[in-house]
Amino acid sequence: MKLLDGKTLSEQIKAEIAREVKENFLDKGLNAPHLAAVLVGEDPASQTYVANKEKSCREVGFMSSVYRYPANISENKLLEVVDFLNNDQDIDGFIFQLPLPAHIKEHKVIEKINPLKDVDGFHPSNTGRMMLNLPCFLPATPFGIMTLIERYGIETAGKHVVVLGRSNIVGTPVSLLLSRKSVHANATVTLCHSYTRDIKKYSLEADILIVAMGKQGFVTADMVKKDAVVIDVGMHRVPASDTKSGFRLKGDVDFAEVSRKCSAITPVPGGVGLMTIVALLQNTLKAAKKEIK
Ligand SMILES: NC(=O)c1ccc[n+]([C@@H]2O[C@H](COP(=O)([O-])OP(=O)(O)OC[C@H]3O[C@@H](n4cnc5c(N)ncnc54)[C@H](OP(=O)(O)O)[C@@H]3O)[C@@H](O)[C@H]2O)c1
Repeated sequence: MKLLDGKTLSEQIKAEIAREVKENFLDKGLNAPHLAAVLVGEDPASQTYVANKEKSCREVGFMSSVYRYPANISENKLLEVVDFLNNDQDIDGFIFQLPLPAHIKEHKVIEKINPLKDVDGFHPSNTGRMMLNLPCFLPATPFGIMTLIERYGIETAGKHVVVLGRSNIVGTPVSLLLSRKSVHANATVTLCHSYTRDIKKYSLEADILIVAMGKQGFVTADMVKKDAVVIDVGMHRVPASDTKSGFRLKGDVDFAEVSRKCSAITPVPGGVGLMTIVALLQNTLKAAKKEIK
């Protein structure tokens, strides 16, 4: 079994980005790419994700800023924040750490982001361009998964990819990217969700199984074909008394048993999560280079 090691790969790509920042920005007297994140409320997981993004920015030589607001901020005020970030010439790209509090309509905030600064790739303009295979910012998690597949040389053409979960940020876009007519794609894709009857029937047919359900340990060895490639997107904080943080990260796949049956698998932590952050850095670099017109 091969471990699809997001840690090693993300470090390698970060080194490539750092080199590009030095050569194409700093050595030419230009400002380093600048990523801003907006964090609303005090959710511990969101705080950790934003802190990790800041740390990664520092590692590659990006500038980063975090705009923090209380959970009771009004929707109008947050839309003003979007205006401010859209107009700030010093910021190349920005993200809103999701989820936002329930009283704020996420789609309203996202639709107001300038698509050229939408480095999370959630704006409908980027989503539509992705659908049409036009230059765009790909959503970070699917982009990270595609990079992992590409860099590990996982053959996708003609393979049966089964995706469990159809969220707008993971399952649906990754199924689209893998089914389209292009290199590192050309797969036959089945997209499963909560209305799928007999999910195991499909998962057992998968040459490549991508799991993004938000159900910890859902995929067990009996659901996986021998020698399949398994990509676990799930991320769950499970209480653990023996760790400093008091929790341990677990995925949607039962790693211990599935890893004995498959040919390759992403660990949690150390898999897709790290590739997601790297994808965000890659998008920010693209934004700073004005690659998307
Ligand atoms: N590693 C990363 O960087 C990263 C990034 C994003 C998300 N995540 C993690 O990935 C997981 C999924 O998140 P998400 O935002 O993509 O998904 P989500 O919005 O929570 O949606 C879950 C999807 O799974 C389907 N589903 C749930 N239970 C099911 C069941 N018992 N049988 C069949 N389908 C089922 C749902 O079907 P319906 O559509 O029918 O409801 C839905 O499409 C979470 O653990 C999240 O924390 C990780």
